[in-house]
Amino acid sequence: MMKSYFKWLLPLAGVVVVGVTGLFYWLPDTGNNTQTVASDSKAIAMTSVWDKETESSYSGVKEVTVYRSPSCGCCGEWVQHMQKHGFKITDNKTEDMEAIKQKYSVPQQLVSCHTAVIDDYVMEGHVPADDIKRFLASKPKQAGLAVPGMPLGTPGMETGNRKQPFTVASFNKDGSVKVLKEYQSY
Ligand code: CU
Ligand code: CU
Repeated sequence: MMKSYFKWLLPLAGVVVVGVTGLFYWLPDTGNNTQTVASDSKAIAMTSVWDKETESSYSGVKEVTVYRSPSCGCCGEWVQHMQKHGFKITDNKTEDMEAIKQKYSVPQQLVSCHTAVIDDYVMEGHVPADDIKRFLASKPKQAGLAVPGMPLGTPGMETGNRKQPFTVASFNKDGSVKVLKEYQSY
């Protein structure tokens, strides 16, 4: 019993000694690189497909008023996405999101979590910042844009590699809706 235990322990101790020795040889050499790697991996963790800006020439209104429930986590993630793209956020937390949807005439079938107002236009849900910029720059007659529901993979709804197809729709105050863009893969 004892013997077989040692038989197993000895190679393991060998591996540990070699490993630790190797580590000490490796550490002084790569002291600088280690830091680079650490900051790189941090950047990778925060990188999303939505961080890439394609509408950098946008020079319109940047002030955004956001309404969201205090318990909504993905809303905060979307706010950060907007900030990364140069928007300035006024954050309003309210328990009565239904009143907000009504006030801003968000059509029932387009409802999502948060509602944002930019230059009198309404942005409902996890709309990508670049789509918002393109929309605003065209000074449209529509009331706003929406990504209905909360599809996985949209800005603020990133969960690993899970990416559901989703639609950006425009809407009018009379409730009429038009599909503006469909994301099948992104
Ligand atoms: Cu959400
Ligand atoms: Cu939200």
